[in-house]
Amino acid sequence: MCICIKCTATSFFNSHIPTFFFSKAGINASNIPEKEPSSPPNKQSKQTENTSTKVPLATSLVQKAPKKLFDCEMADFKEAENINLDKSAPSTFLRVDKAPTVAVFKLSSDCNADTNPKKVNLGVGAFRTEEGKPWVLPVVTEVERKIAIDTSLNKEYLPIAGLKSFRDQVMKFALGETHPVLLEGRAVGVQAISGTGALRLGADFLRKYHANFEKTPVFVSSPTWPNHVGIFKTAGFTDIRTYRYWNAEDKNLDFDNMIKDFENAPMRSIMIFHCCAHNPTGCDPTRDQWLKIAKVLAEKQAFPIFDTAYQGFASGDPAADAWPLRLFAAAGFEMFVVSSFSKNFGLYNERVGQLTAVSKDKALLPAVQSQLEILIRTNYSNPPVHGALLVATILKSSEYQRQWLDQLNVMSNRILEMRQLLRNSLEQAGCPGKWSHITSQIGMFSYTGLSEKQCDWLKNERSLYLMKSGRINMCAITKKNVDYVAISIRESFEHA
Ligand SMILES: Cc1ncc(COP(=O)(O)O)c(C=O)c1O
Repeated sequence: MCICIKCTATSFFNSHIPTFFFSKAGINASNIPEKEPSSPPNKQSKQTENTSTKVPLATSLVQKAPKKLFDCEMADFKEAENINLDKSAPSTFLRVDKAPTVAVFKLSSDCNADTNPKKVNLGVGAFRTEEGKPWVLPVVTEVERKIAIDTSLNKEYLPIAGLKSFRDQVMKFALGETHPVLLEGRAVGVQAISGTGALRLGADFLRKYHANFEKTPVFVSSPTWPNHVGIFKTAGFTDIRTYRYWNAEDKNLDFDNMIKDFENAPMRSIMIFHCCAHNPTGCDPTRDQWLKIAKVLAEKQAFPIFDTAYQGFASGDPAADAWPLRLFAAAGFEMFVVSSFSKNFGLYNERVGQLTAVSKDKALLPAVQSQLEILIRTNYSNPPVHGALLVATILKSSEYQRQWLDQLNVMSNRILEMRQLLRNSLEQAGCPGKWSHITSQIGMFSYTGLSEKQCDWLKNERSLYLMKSGRINMCAITKKNVDYVAISIRESFEHA
């Protein structure tokens, strides 16, 4: 099974990154990541100690402290009246149009405001227990306790690229530690603000370094997670196209048309893939199909981005879920891998992720990393440590790994169980049509095939909050609410 991307073709990373990174003399000062001011810790702490022995620190602070922390004495700003500002000048914000609300967040706030005890939030993509509650994985809590009392840790800035142990573990997690790409040192990873941040970092990088980015289309699946489009647009890409993915009639993959779209794509196009548990359809290509996709894209010398937001969450086996990206890497593609630990570690609000760049030539990677660091430095300077430390600690220890895998299985098994339960209930309720796709789809979501009108009716009349696309979060189904959901769906066929 030969997937031939011409290995003699210029490396993507070679042709677009300024070569001055390879010559010391050519290094441009504006491109050098600033060093954090090196602190003279000992001197400083000694000074504080000395002063504190001479001056009663507490008393002086008390005298200077405001009466109330948040008070603002307007008397202090009396002079402001004498600053001659033309208040009739137009506001800087005058031309700002109100942006539409982000659908999934709006759905959650509408649901929160709903007083119907039967309401169900089927929208937001987060795991829920049988009681309908969020779940902090016990292994996460255990490691957090350990971290909290570890006096060797501190709150110093991380390096720009993030926590080294995390970055190394994530590359092993995504690619497998014996993958040739890692054995040959042909990957570099930088910590990112979860999957979204990694995608944006990748988009910003490609905008700068992809040859002629204005003419290079970015392809996303139709449908896809809407933020793929938003992120690449905001990064400056103007030609964002779709490849066909979903056959709405048969409720499965539109494989032949997808291949046609790849065959017709311009050379070196950027292709965004969901590595597993496609959002929103829950429908992934088979391994054979991935192989065919890789062969077509090899001809096109495409640049794939594997958005891996659900590694392990789809099947319970992180290696199996990473199979597509490992295949492309084994075939020699240069590509980005976007890792997120929101779903599989339940670390939604910790914002833990990584962007990994795979190159055909390891000598190009220091330049790639240096440019990614510039993008990070000018956006948020350096990433937060807590979530990365949790993930690194768990991935590094075989005992924590075992606990995490068990808990991952609890989540994926619950989803499988709910799929079966919902399908049974829909069939028993006499819902029109076939419902086998509910159990054949994979991952967190089910793409029900309900129309926008039905979704609106379910929201307005039954307090069932689902995306207008008909996507539902399977984790929101419980043994208690499944019949209500199924009967309501049947009713939506009669009323909407
Ligand atoms: C396909 C896909 N990519 C990326 C993300 C980003 O998630 P996060 O930014 O929480 O890592 C999500 C989240 O729902 C997703 O579904």
